[in-house]
Amino acid sequence: MTRRFWAPGRVNLIGDHTDYSGGLVLPAAIDHGLWLDVEASAVIALESQLEQEAVTVAPDGSRPPATGWGRYVAAVAAELAALGRPAVGLRGRLTGDLPTGSGLSSSAALEVVVATALCAVADFALPPLELAQAAQRAEERAVGVPCGVMDQAASVLGRADAAVLLHCGTLEHRLVAMPPELAMVVLDSGVQRRLESSGYATRRAELERGLVALQGRSPVAVATDELAGLVAAADLDEVAAARLHHVVTENARVTAAAAALERDPVDRTALGELFAGSHASLRDQYQVTVPETDLLVDLCLQTGAVAARMTGAGFGGAVVALVDADRAAPVGDAVAAAYQARQDRWRATVVQCRAAEGAGERG
Ligand code: GLA
Repeated sequence: MTRRFWAPGRVNLIGDHTDYSGGLVLPAAIDHGLWLDVEASAVIALESQLEQEAVTVAPDGSRPPATGWGRYVAAVAAELAALGRPAVGLRGRLTGDLPTGSGLSSSAALEVVVATALCAVADFALPPLELAQAAQRAEERAVGVPCGVMDQAASVLGRADAAVLLHCGTLEHRLVAMPPELAMVVLDSGVQRRLESSGYATRRAELERGLVALQGRSPVAVATDELAGLVAAADLDEVAAARLHHVVTENARVTAAAAALERDPVDRTALGELFAGSHASLRDQYQVTVPETDLLVDLCLQTGAVAARMTGAGFGGAVVALVDADRAAPVGDAVAAAYQARQDRWRATVVQCRAAEGAGERG
């Protein structure tokens, strides 16, 4: 019997590079993702519409391949085996509409859809956030990226027409309704990056140096006006202080953005300012934007977006704009055209997104 599983990508509305220090994030699962049609089998054998090669790995993830997307599959199987999943395999095919490397968390969607299917065929139940954490560990096991839990958590917790306000330290979370009059438009800069070779791990290490100044307090509990004193007392170097400054102020912006979305009417001015503050902080304090994502944000705002910022890890990748729903298509197209007029190296891809249901069996 063939069974069908789904895991969405995500767009993060605000709260970037905050998850791995236990901070706040506000992502939404989106209506673009991966489908996996499978039946139980002795091994894990998968083909994909999106990849050239098929992969075959052991049901417990042992002896993983050295390269390719089979690394993610094997890593997920290995993490689930460590949690006690019986070694049942599956045979199947992946399809979907999530472009890889576009800042919409295609690798998290792959990990989550494979984990969801592997648990189901083995009658092995895991609470959604434990599955997300296993998928997060699989990312590090597969390609060495010490990512936080945001992408995998968004993929399992997402709900239609809502974003998820998640405290990555306690894993407490609640839904924040997306106002129907605002659409999410994602513009992928086309600048190719691979997380494992980017500065992600370096940024994380620099932040760790900065967190020493908090003496064990969560960055969520620190007020922005305490920062200068803490930085001076710990004698932080400039880079560590800048990384810490970003994280403490970004957590505050996440809380404020959730409140602005929930105000009636929606506080468009506050959203615009908070997204602008987030982008500037990711550019100047965390140094993960590139000229192309800076340009895309400017073009979104010039074209009438309510708010715009880079989203995800940065180092290229995508920007997210909140746009009046009835103008989402023309604004996206106009920004992509203006981007091409301003530089001829990269082409932007527009992805119109709606907040969608998280991972599960759909059949
Ligand atoms: C990537 C990681 C996430 C998060 C973001 C930045 O998407 O996978 O865990 O750290 O970057 O917010």
